[in-house]
Amino acid sequence: MSTNSSGFIIELSYIAAAVLFIIGMKMLSSQATARRGNLLSSLGMLIAVIVTLCSAGMDYRFIVIGLVIGSLIGAVAARAVAMTAMPEMVALFNGFGGIASLLVGWAEFHEHQNLLGAGTLIPIFVAVLIGGITFTGSLVAYGKLAEMISGKPILFTGQKVINAMLLLVVIAAGAVFSAGGDVTRMYQVFMVVVVVSMILGVLTVIPIGGADMPVVISLLNSYSGLAACAAGFVILNKVLIVSGSLVGASGIILTKIMCKAMNRSLRNVLFSGFGAGVSKKSEGLTGEVKPISVDDAYLILEAASSVVITPGYGMAVAQAQHVVRELGDLLEKNGCEVRYAIHPVAGRMPGHMNVLLAEANVAYEQLFEPDGVNPTMNMVDVCIVIGANDVVNPAARDDESSPIYGMPIINVDHARTVFVLKRSMAPGFAGIDNPLFFNENTRMLFGDAKASVSGIVAQFKE
Ligand code: TAP
Repeated sequence: MSTNSSGFIIELSYIAAAVLFIIGMKMLSSQATARRGNLLSSLGMLIAVIVTLCSAGMDYRFIVIGLVIGSLIGAVAARAVAMTAMPEMVALFNGFGGIASLLVGWAEFHEHQNLLGAGTLIPIFVAVLIGGITFTGSLVAYGKLAEMISGKPILFTGQKVINAMLLLVVIAAGAVFSAGGDVTRMYQVFMVVVVVSMILGVLTVIPIGGADMPVVISLLNSYSGLAACAAGFVILNKVLIVSGSLVGASGIILTKIMCKAMNRSLRNVLFSGFGAGVSKKSEGLTGEVKPISVDDAYLILEAASSVVITPGYGMAVAQAQHVVRELGDLLEKNGCEVRYAIHPVAGRMPGHMNVLLAEANVAYEQLFEPDGVNPTMNMVDVCIVIGANDVVNPAARDDESSPIYGMPIINVDHARTVFVLKRSMAPGFAGIDNPLFFNENTRMLFGDAKASVSGIVAQFKE
């Protein structure tokens, strides 16, 4: 095959891969088509990888070594990671994406040095800057989520000024680097860009509280896409440019959606140090807590004709999704209408509850967003809150002094009776007390969510 026609086939295949990415991503926006969308995008990636490997000038030795090591680590990590640790894993993957783009930029500079013009040096600088920030920022996000470092915002005097100065330094270094010239000097400036980018990654993520890490991870995901896009310009690979831009754009859209769901601006998430002053201990809410037993909960549910199940992070911890679906099925069999209310930021990652309930085969038609369920909540007999806390905290709606005031919530307190399934009176991830637990119509069913729901299911089966 002539070089021209093989080049044409490669370009055509890249376009096909890009189209598959886009269609696949569009299909991800609906639960009914998400699996097929994932498959289509994977097919696009397979085509892109095969076509790239068939391009001329490949050194297969290193590719095979990388492929084997990467596949082994990926397979072991994917099998070993707990569902609740998925956000940490995504954080690490983003970080590796960032360092990969940085290394692509570095390798290109090292290989060609003073032969490169500004058209390549600028993308190298951008890939290294964003890649470096993404790498160390993601490691800090990972450390915070895995509780290896404190989830509290780390704040110090002059932090913003130092960050701004470092940003100026790195931009100035980038300008000098992109202007080209003496190779030794360029290498020195290049190393300044590498080191300062990595420091910036750490310094921009440490002031952000653990509760905001999912938003940060989504933002870093967007950065890793932008870094890959810049790397695509460095090595003039169109599919890398397209896929990097897609990741960059979708990451920022997801970040915006999450901020909206918490009624916070991105600026507030990044710079407010949210959670610094909030104690994880009780701040002294008073009132009577009314515990309920599994037997009594069963009796009330047995008589209910409308139930809303509101899951949160605790359902993921307890891995209670299968038994929750079983309870839903039994209630329906008993003539009760069952709906699931899903808050966009319930759990620790976007779509966390949807993924768990889909795994347990809960029908998509039974899932409702807060806007879909809140207007009818006062006609609901029982709302069962399973390991959710912040996303059902009425303080977000009623208490202007609350740090989460303004965050849309699921109005579970408007149901006739509310069961809250959790192990203790401990607050949720935001560290804020929940007045719901003291309400007249709230009953606390203490214990592990899976054990409590299994107990009710057993009663229904008797
Ligand atoms: P949380 O407010 O974190 O509350 C989870 C509750 O689950 C805890 O109060 C805990 O109480 C309970 N729990 C833990 N393990 C349990 C078990 N085995 N059995 C029963 N209960 C258990 O969860 P949420 O309501 O889902 O809210 C999510 C939080 O993450 C929000 O603050 C949200 O802003 C934040 N966030 C999420 C995202 C995304 S994308 N999901 C993004 C940004 C921020 P006990 O310890 O007493 O059991």
